[in-house]
Amino acid sequence: MGVSKSIFLAPLCLILSALLGLASFVRADNPIVQTIYTADPAPVVYNGRVYLFTGHDEDGSTTFTMKDWRLFSSADMVNWQHHGIAMNLTTFAWADLNAWAGQVIPRNGKFYWYVPVRRRGGSMAIGVAVSNSITGPYSDAIGKPLVENGQIDPTVFIDDDGQAYMYWGNPGLYYVKLNQDMTSYSGSVSQITLTTAGFGTRNGNAERPTTFEEAPWVYKRNGVYYMIYAANCCSEDLRYSTGTSAVGPWTYKGVIMPSQGASFTNHPGIVEFNGTSYFFYHNGALPGGSGYTRSVAVENFKYNSDGTIPQIPWTSGGPAQVGTLNPYVRQEAETMAWEQGVETEVSSEGGIDVGNINNGDYIKVRGVAFGDGAKSFSARVASATNGGSIELRLGSSTGTLVGTCAVPGTGGWQTYKTVTCSVNGATGTQDLFFKFTGSGTDFLFNFEYWQFSK
Ligand SMILES: *[C@@H]1O[C@H](CO)[C@@H](O)[C@H](O)[C@H]1NC(C)=O
Ligand SMILES: *[C@@H]1O[C@H](CO)[C@@H](O)[C@H](O)[C@H]1NC(C)=O
Repeated sequence: MGVSKSIFLAPLCLILSALLGLASFVRADNPIVQTIYTADPAPVVYNGRVYLFTGHDEDGSTTFTMKDWRLFSSADMVNWQHHGIAMNLTTFAWADLNAWAGQVIPRNGKFYWYVPVRRRGGSMAIGVAVSNSITGPYSDAIGKPLVENGQIDPTVFIDDDGQAYMYWGNPGLYYVKLNQDMTSYSGSVSQITLTTAGFGTRNGNAERPTTFEEAPWVYKRNGVYYMIYAANCCSEDLRYSTGTSAVGPWTYKGVIMPSQGASFTNHPGIVEFNGTSYFFYHNGALPGGSGYTRSVAVENFKYNSDGTIPQIPWTSGGPAQVGTLNPYVRQEAETMAWEQGVETEVSSEGGIDVGNINNGDYIKVRGVAFGDGAKSFSARVASATNGGSIELRLGSSTGTLVGTCAVPGTGGWQTYKTVTCSVNGATGTQDLFFKFTGSGTDFLFNFEYWQFSK
């Protein structure tokens, strides 16, 4: 019976896996951001949301040309709100280049942002910026480098006893004990001795005998200290070591994510959110992607029962949605799971709007809970030309049309007006697509925010 059952089930399994393969292709929401290239993820959970700080690779970069840092946030791990430029190089009057991999950490009701930048006329140094709000504005906390030894990629960890540590390095690995104020330190800079027992063996490189390369990220779980890092330049993979204290000794544990093609660097970040563990990294998976035009992505994973981290492959599907998105409250146009063709910009009404909209572009918002059904849709829009239309479609950008909202010219790209249209057939929980249509070669309109009503 077992045999006949499995023979009977085989074709069904094939059909199912084909369907699931198709579904995960359709649902492909990794990388997280498609409007620009992003790199060096630094996630932090705060107030029921995941805030994702990233670097920004300029379009068409052929080296690490990085001038500003970006912020995105999500309450459901699939729809990410763009907050725009959270800080740029001019924050540090003493720096001139290289807005590279940093991390934000909350403490004392403030937010501290540690970043590597090049000191004007000097070498790579670590600066620290501070803000009263996680979304900024951030300002230089001390007006000079916190440390300067030509090395990069700071990560900050606060132990249970309140002692904070900042680790950084490439090619070395260093730490200091930060004071309670988070902007000064006690004692001197310590160098962690890179042993193969602590950080694995790199083959055939006498100068760098261990796998440690850069991008350390330190945290603690169930009494174990984890240091995850980028290994083995220059086709980096992500590895980790564990320690019995914040300053080691460290024991090498192995590979988390193998190297993966278009981007020769990688950078890890791990957070716990809503009872699930999430692993952030970057790749070169967007069109035009390369080692200098990277994109941040995320996977969920489960620790093994002994606390070790499994190997995590990168996927185009990403994690499952946490809960659903409520369409009956104001949602920002720049909250999206995926998009095609659009960009974001600073809005005259505060925050960010979606622009660069051409005929055929779309925004996907995943897992929208319409419930018994929506009756109407309102959108805040502006157009210096003749506008166009927002088609409301379910399931895909060519899926069922449940409403069409005409957008008129409003007399300016930042002269906003609210338009409303009726909606028919939007029930249950659906992936919602805003499909933009119109004629002409100029952009159609800008899109600020939206809301359905019952
Ligand atoms: C950098 O940030 C400053 C301060 O927020 C702002 O005035 C300036 O326009 C920004 N520059 C760029 C190129 O974004
Ligand atoms: C996860 O999120 C869902 C949906 O918002 C919520 O119902 C649930 O209680 C959360 N679970 C945890 C463990 O936080």
